[in-house]
Amino acid sequence: MDARALEAIREAVLPELPGFEVEWLPQIDSTNSELMRRARVGRLAPVLLVAGQQTAGRGRLGRQWFSEADAGANPAGDAALTFSLGLPLAPLNWSGLSLAVGVSVVQSLHPDLRLKWPNDVWLHDRKLAGILIETANLPDTPATRYAVVGVGINLKARAATGLRTAPAWLGEVLPGIGAAAALLRMAAPLVQALLAFEQRGFAPLQSRFNQLDALGGVAVSLSDGTQGVAQGVDGLGALLVHTAHGLKKIISSEVSLRPLNPPPYENL
Ligand code: ATP
Ligand code: BTN
Repeated sequence: MDARALEAIREAVLPELPGFEVEWLPQIDSTNSELMRRARVGRLAPVLLVAGQQTAGRGRLGRQWFSEADAGANPAGDAALTFSLGLPLAPLNWSGLSLAVGVSVVQSLHPDLRLKWPNDVWLHDRKLAGILIETANLPDTPATRYAVVGVGINLKARAATGLRTAPAWLGEVLPGIGAAAALLRMAAPLVQALLAFEQRGFAPLQSRFNQLDALGGVAVSLSDGTQGVAQGVDGLGALLVHTAHGLKKIISSEVSLRPLNPPPYENL
């Protein structure tokens, strides 16, 4: 990603977040891991770290996030976008943060995108992007934590081999979009969404999430054994599932959700 693109992103975000910097690294294990390492040694300034390539991209629950190297100076050649935004945050309640990030990402990118609780962006029942949020304690300020919000997005077609859900890519709905253009669309709204979440929590986004929910009204099965029909989320972002034993509220972020009858290409 070239210096002008990075500067345009910095200028778009700076009014929202004083001291904000943008940094591009050609290669790193994981942008989330790097910002968490920095936080642990007291580097707590707000920053957007973008990677040309991640060698050990991480998803939830110890899973991997795969992304090809981008094409460096040629923005039209970008295959993927991987970045993490790090900033100190002090919400009253952290519940629903990954959902709030998902709503922001979808609204910035394209009206056809949908959300799959708790952290995936889908396009036509395939996974386009994943969100991984981690936080670090700050000494002496228990209400504030350093939040690292990581987002990985497929920009170009990629194989389904080895993935739990078939992949989608942003080029399907925004042909030719590169990493810089995608990031410029998302960065400032994402910072605004995080600052709004800090003030008001998830509740104001509940109905928006439910409008964007890929699995609302769909028969689902969860990794904790629950089966039923997904009913969207409550005001704290907990998943509601109508089961044979009544309405169940899923709070745990350790749980995975799948459609009971996935589309046939999922098994390719
Ligand atoms: P859930 O989020 O509901 O638990 P998930 O299958 O999406 O289910 P995650 O932990 O969110 O699981 O995401 C990690 C998974 O994302 C990996 O196990 C892999 O299957 C998938 N994945 C990794 N890289 C990509 C990619 N570039 N595009 C699409 N999917 C990917
Ligand atoms: C998931 O689907 O479970 C989350 C995937 C998150 C991937 C992004 S890519 C940028 C940041 N760095 C990582 O190692 N993970 C996140």
